[in-house]
Amino acid sequence: MATDANTSQLNDFVFPSWINKIIILGLACGGLFGGYAATVGFFATHPKVINVGHMPEQPIPFSHALHAGKLKLDCRYCHNTVEKAAHAAIPPSATCGNCHGGKDRVKPGATLAAVHLKSEKLAPLRESLETDTPVNWLRVHELPGFVYFNHSAHVTRGVSCVECHGRIDKMEVVYQAKELSMKWCLDCHRNPDEAIRPFDQVTNLGWNPDKEELKTIYMEELEKAFEKLAPQVSVDANPVPSERKSERRLFFYPDGEDRPEFTASKWRDTKTHQDNFAKLIFGDPKLADENSDNEISLQEAVAFLDTKSDYTRKDLGQLLRATHKINPNQSCSTCHR
Ligand code: HEC
Ligand code: HEC
Ligand code: HEC
Ligand code: HEC
Ligand code: HEC
Repeated sequence: MATDANTSQLNDFVFPSWINKIIILGLACGGLFGGYAATVGFFATHPKVINVGHMPEQPIPFSHALHAGKLKLDCRYCHNTVEKAAHAAIPPSATCGNCHGGKDRVKPGATLAAVHLKSEKLAPLRESLETDTPVNWLRVHELPGFVYFNHSAHVTRGVSCVECHGRIDKMEVVYQAKELSMKWCLDCHRNPDEAIRPFDQVTNLGWNPDKEELKTIYMEELEKAFEKLAPQVSVDANPVPSERKSERRLFFYPDGEDRPEFTASKWRDTKTHQDNFAKLIFGDPKLADENSDNEISLQEAVAFLDTKSDYTRKDLGQLLRATHKINPNQSCSTCHR
């Protein structure tokens, strides 16, 4: 990012060396220490991290409410590394130039090339394009240097920008909406269900499905999970053809039998495995008992799910977590490397 040097707010913060020892100690003691540190709130939080409301004045009055909200530009049009890299790139002036750069800068096929060409507000952009120097955007969010954060690890796992940045698509000027404290990170890592959404809705900040939509999405995701299982379901050398996919059966195999889906090692024991699966997928452990033969067909699952009327974000999040194996780490080395 081009803006680091002059705006880093935390240059004055020196990480005391004793903390390194604590981190090493923490690594050695693993979860025990983690639980203690986090529940007791043992560590003071640096005030500049809890900078909720921090809203520096930018060199160009760029409005997300206009560009991401009204014009509906996808976040990834500008922050195009957000799915691939740790950092979400701030766009170079050339990206703005696609619409504000004038004829010389128009990419073949671009239609919006000459929006507000004479605008005073855009003078720094024109200068940047002419002199080939970046616009001096100021950082809004910034973690201390000893914290490792990674955008792609979140946005490719169904965590939306809105969980951490708020409704950017409604902001005239970007400000920090959340605390970004260690406790805040860990609260979600411990209990992420409600923060997980279908992967294609991650940049749709206003996503707010009602119960019916949630149910539809839930069923679709469940079908996808069964689809993924299809090759393993044809275990009996009698593959079920796709027209009869509702007859496909989902087998609960204990580990070691080469059935990678739904057989994470912590579900090793078949009984626990079933209970966990039923809880995660169906929200009802009783179902597992009724299926003591270790299998549930899609038909049975759908019949059961049809009787369930209240679909919540949490239900969907649990399903997505189970079917995509999403389990955020809480060990110190996840964020302090
Ligand atoms: C999910 C990410 C995450 C995990 C896991 C995590 N931390 Fe942190 N930690 C942070 C963040 C973010 C900060 C900076 C914000 C703050 O000061 O609260 C931080 C700050 C700290 C600080 C400095 C506190 C200060 O005064 O600024 C220490 C020390 C620390 N962590 C130790 C640990 C130890 C020990 C563990 C394991 C038990 C751990 N962390 C696990 C994210 C994490
Ligand atoms: C047309 C390009 C464009 C689009 C589209 C866009 N952004 Fe931005 N974004 C920028 C620019 C330029 C900045 C730096 C200036 C500022 O902070 O307003 C920025 C800054 C940010 C920041 C603050 C970065 C920091 O310094 O901490 C966040 C967070 C952010 N954008 C999120 C989003 C999200 C979420 C979306 C989609 C809803 C989005 N952006 C869409 C151009 C864009
Ligand atoms: C896809 C086209 C598109 C891109 C890319 C784009 N803009 Fe815009 N921008 C517009 C449109 C359209 C308007 C005018 C909306 C209106 O006036 O109703 C606008 C308006 C503006 C304005 C207000 C100008 C004024 O005088 O009122 C500013 C400032 C601005 N954009 C900055 C930027 C910056 C900075 C970037 C790059 C980070 C950028 N825009 C990228 C389409 C774009
Ligand atoms: C799990 C929380 C989380 C999610 C989800 C998230 N961000 Fe961020 N974002 C952060 C944190 C924390 C920082 C500060 C990173 C740092 O200082 O290293 C940040 C920084 C940024 C920045 C400044 C550049 C950078 O990488 O430091 C931009 C731009 C940004 N985010 C855009 C987005 C967009 C767009 C999305 C959704 C596609 C998104 N973020 C999703 C937490 C998140
Ligand atoms: C709203 C929920 C949420 C918040 C807030 C959040 N995370 Fe995460 N984090 C996740 C999820 C979900 C994953 C993906 C876990 C997986 O792939 O199994 C993840 C993954 C990660 C990873 C990749 C390593 C891993 O666990 O697999 C890092 C590093 C990380 N988070 C750091 C942070 C830091 C640092 C913060 C705070 C600044 C933070 N996270 C805040 C939900 C969150």
